[in-house]
Amino acid sequence: MLDLLIHDATLPDGRTGMSIAVQDGRIAEVTAGLDAPAAQKLDACGLLLAPPFVDPHFHMDATLSYGLPRVNQSGTLLEGIALWGELKPLLKAEALIERALAYCDWAVAKGLLAIRSHVDTSDASLLAVDALLEVKRLVAPYLDLQLVAFPQDGVLRSPGGVDNLRRALDKGVDVVGGIPHFERTMADGAASVKLLCEIAAERGKLVDMHCDESDDPLSRHIETLAFESQRLGLQGRVTGSHCTSMHSMDNYYVSKLLPLIAESGVAVISNPLINITLQGRHDSYPKRRGMTRVPELMAAGVNVAFGHDCVMDPWYGMGSGDMLEVAHMGLHVAQMTSQAGIRDCFDAVTVNAAKVMHLEGHGIAAGCDASFVLLQARDPVEAIRLRATRLKVYRKGRLLAETPAATAALHLPGRSTQTHWMQP
Ligand code: FE2
Repeated sequence: MLDLLIHDATLPDGRTGMSIAVQDGRIAEVTAGLDAPAAQKLDACGLLLAPPFVDPHFHMDATLSYGLPRVNQSGTLLEGIALWGELKPLLKAEALIERALAYCDWAVAKGLLAIRSHVDTSDASLLAVDALLEVKRLVAPYLDLQLVAFPQDGVLRSPGGVDNLRRALDKGVDVVGGIPHFERTMADGAASVKLLCEIAAERGKLVDMHCDESDDPLSRHIETLAFESQRLGLQGRVTGSHCTSMHSMDNYYVSKLLPLIAESGVAVISNPLINITLQGRHDSYPKRRGMTRVPELMAAGVNVAFGHDCVMDPWYGMGSGDMLEVAHMGLHVAQMTSQAGIRDCFDAVTVNAAKVMHLEGHGIAAGCDASFVLLQARDPVEAIRLRATRLKVYRKGRLLAETPAATAALHLPGRSTQTHWMQP
């Protein structure tokens, strides 16, 4: 007997009337119209059953700290970094853990079951590292948390930066991070990329660097990152995050850069909510959007994912852990409003992001984990349009979260009362 049988589900690839058979936490079979004995049965009523959302770029050590000790008045990246510097000495492990756990609760309710979070390694105490390693342990039964050693103040620029980062990796942090555009010079930035890729190669780690988070078209550390990935045989293991300078680069240079990124197997993570907010701050009008060239990167064969980056922290006062909100902003900023473009944006917060994190068992197919989200939408386009309610969230066959369907009861003069959700 099966543990769970879901029937009449629509899958993100468009297949309808699908049954998903679950046994021992895994998907045993995906087929049309299956009927078999099962301990539990769920009628999906033709709605979309998607793999869990994945956030490949987040800062869980800063999340939900908005207003501590003050808000970011200018709204700029640099004031955000300065503000984080003011907050760091005030951080207490217990409070940080509490905020991170609260955020993970929000995430699970939104069907977000895997998060790659950067953790600041600049402080020699590694307080945030220890706190997030504890959070990782606590949430492991319901959420995959992957940590990136992130030298926020610059691995070469801050005293003890390299040593602190190495110690964070020793403690069990999964991925090597960096921030080359924040080092003192372009040359130091390039040197930091080389050094950090070598550390990753020597330890068999993945790499994910904040790369060129700037409007400066001459910030080209992504080129060095691609080169080093290839030189060290790290293809498929390296990610450049943000890459906002690419928005402002010369088109001829980009025509050379895109194939180089594709050839080196470097993935790119864009953070639409944050990029549209923090970039272009030094512009008058017209103001640049500042998001990297998402459709062009995808067309060049680069794996592109979207991250949330920030929720209620020194850089961003909004957000709720909703990756559909991220995809919604991404498709607007990138003008990816074709049906194919919208579906690509859905992939950017599901399968593409899972690939960045090297997650195993992510997907709706036989042999994958029985982890999925039933959405109050009939396809990925409608899911993004409505930021659809996550009716049920399952992980490895276990029901983790349920949210009642969103409906509106209308009492219109001259019309009978009707209840419906926003569909044509
Ligand atoms: Fe970030």
